[in-house]
Amino acid sequence: MENSKDQKPVFARGLEGVIAAETEIGFVDGQEGRLVYRGYDINVLCENSNYEEVSYLLIYGKLPTRDQMTEYINQFRKYSEIPESTMGIIRNFGKDAHPMITLRTVISNLASYDSQESDSSIENQRRIAISIIAKMPALVGAIHRTINGQEIVKAKGELSYAASFLYYATGKNPDPVETKIMDTALMIHADHGMNASTFSSLVTISTLADIYSATTSAVSTLKGPLHGGANERALKMIMDIASPDKAEAYLAAMIAKKEKIMGFGHRVYKVYDPRAKILKKYASYISEKTDQKTLFQTANKIEEIMINKLGEKGIFPNVDFYSGMIYYSMGLKPEIFTPIFALGRISGWTARSLEYLQNNRLFRPKALYVGEKGPKSYISIHERQ
Ligand SMILES: CC(C)(COP(=O)(O)OP(=O)(O)OC[C@H]1O[C@@H](n2cnc3c(N)ncnc32)[C@H](O)[C@@H]1OP(=O)(O)O)[C@@H](O)C(=O)NCCC(=O)NCCS
Repeated sequence: MENSKDQKPVFARGLEGVIAAETEIGFVDGQEGRLVYRGYDINVLCENSNYEEVSYLLIYGKLPTRDQMTEYINQFRKYSEIPESTMGIIRNFGKDAHPMITLRTVISNLASYDSQESDSSIENQRRIAISIIAKMPALVGAIHRTINGQEIVKAKGELSYAASFLYYATGKNPDPVETKIMDTALMIHADHGMNASTFSSLVTISTLADIYSATTSAVSTLKGPLHGGANERALKMIMDIASPDKAEAYLAAMIAKKEKIMGFGHRVYKVYDPRAKILKKYASYISEKTDQKTLFQTANKIEEIMINKLGEKGIFPNVDFYSGMIYYSMGLKPEIFTPIFALGRISGWTARSLEYLQNNRLFRPKALYVGEKGPKSYISIHERQ
């Protein structure tokens, strides 16, 4: 929307409050603390559904019938195989590359095996979306094995999405309860409004680039600590504090220095993040089961202190506060936490890119020029001081 000549141009830093697109995919109610995918409350989905079904819901707009679900899972199986040379990139990047660097590179690399990548029809781009979703458990699992100095394992049987990720990541048959917890974590990460990575995927698809490119943009954007990296840092803080009786002094010192406490606060939620509520009960369960009770008790104490101190400012635990502890208790390395976020979010990124593509308009905002308008005279480099 253009402003008339005498109107001051509207400028929102970080595009805060700016509506950039219409969507029917997901709704975040920051005041009521609700997260809804296509009309279904996240709590209802976590109690009754699974990641595969939620992925279908986001991509196709409705829950699948039994036949549609079978067909969707068949497509996952058909597309799940990773080219050997892509696995070679993971091995070559090795132990020391940040897993998000490896992940964005291999997703980009997948496009080179696809001769149809530039056909921007919805059907073709949806095929690409499903093929990337299908490959993510093996890719993220293989990256985890590699940073752990372990051999990449081959696919095994007909496991669910969450179970196959745990198998690829650990090389062990996953425990059913841990699988349910991972499945839930993936469901609650599947979509979340116009966050930075989703927005960057839309900007990319709006140029009629392909879903590989849009996903590579999204993964690159998720890498930053203000977006996907907070759970790793939240876990580090909980481990540094180490016991409930040390929490008060540690947090007071951080708050006095005006440092941000990782895993707390949210741009949209000004009440308890509904995703954190779901994860908290699993964090309690799994920490008990894996002898990490003190970790959970420390986290619980941090939460109590933070709500006392900053609750009235709308600062509550967010999804990242308990997720890191859960993954750690499952034996997963902290560096893989952000790729696990991507493993869940892949369905939301691609569903929103496909939705945008159906009514595409190239993103082209403006910047407010605040520099000198000149005209200045040009001085040759030989005479410049
Ligand atoms: C997510 C985040 C960037 C949102 O920031 P925001 O929208 O600018 O936050 P708000 O404007 O609501 O902050 C209100 C006040 O609470 C403070 N605040 C916000 N998050 C805080 C945190 N995690 N720890 C301590 N204080 C915090 C702000 O400094 C601000 O204080 P002020 O009123 O004295 O200026 C911010 O909360 C944050 O950095 N959290 C930690 C990182 C994190 O967990 N990210 C994952 C998000 S899912």
